[in-house]
Amino acid sequence: MALKELFSTGVVKRSEIWITSKLWCNDHAPEDVSKGLSKTLEDLQLDYVDLYLMHWPFRTKPGSSGFNPEVMVPLCLPETWSAMEGLFASGQARAIGVSNFSTKKLEKLLGYAKVPPSVNQVECHPGWQQPSLHNLCKSTGIHLSAYSPLGSPGSWLKGETLKEPTIIEIAEKLNKSPAQVALRWGIQNGHSVLPKSVNESRLKENISLFDWCIPQDLFSEFSKIHQKRLLRGEFVVHETCSPYKSLEELWDGEI
Ligand code: A2P
Repeated sequence: MALKELFSTGVVKRSEIWITSKLWCNDHAPEDVSKGLSKTLEDLQLDYVDLYLMHWPFRTKPGSSGFNPEVMVPLCLPETWSAMEGLFASGQARAIGVSNFSTKKLEKLLGYAKVPPSVNQVECHPGWQQPSLHNLCKSTGIHLSAYSPLGSPGSWLKGETLKEPTIIEIAEKLNKSPAQVALRWGIQNGHSVLPKSVNESRLKENISLFDWCIPQDLFSEFSKIHQKRLLRGEFVVHETCSPYKSLEELWDGEI
């Protein structure tokens, strides 16, 4: 409703905004993929999304909610991806991609995809830099989009990236905030960054990233930062019920 009103009153044109949505895990069955997007389009009153992402590389029972072991069902990633390709062909999704795919899972997907993913949206910030994934994305033309680019300081993940001494030092030298330095690090790596904020002044701060840069000598300092994945996905792992029996398997060792 809100979007429709903005378009009809001329506040913004549809072509001026970018809308991404995600296929939830309980809609991975090929016959459900199109229904998942149709429901989203109906809810948002849109004709298309700019980007549609497979949210996770695992699948739960149709109609289920949450991630307890009883709702996990075997993977069918090639079939789900093929149905995603159908959405791209129909124009309802102008681009398709994935989220939370490890380097190995992305490589595998490239092996069977007829339409390669445009994007892999993953956790990425100075405290979890994902160098292998970054390199694969760069060499194959897949855009890496970073969620939790500030290390999710206010959430249950309680990331401490903005308290990293290296980041604070660089921020002081450049007269920027630690958040701006973390976000600019992502931009200079060629990623898009998706910082969340409900605060107007922080929203402004987080967009003021494009008329300055982190010089090379300071950029190389980021390699000193301790690496730790925040969203580890324990909820997916189960010895018998899940296709992933360990975090090692879920992330193919990138943990
Ligand atoms: P708030 O909404 O009160 O601004 P991430 O995007 O990495 O998940 O991080 C989101 C969290 O970071 C939110 O709790 C948000 O709080 C906080 N945040 C957003 N922008 C800034 C900023 N510029 N400085 C400090 N904290 C920020």
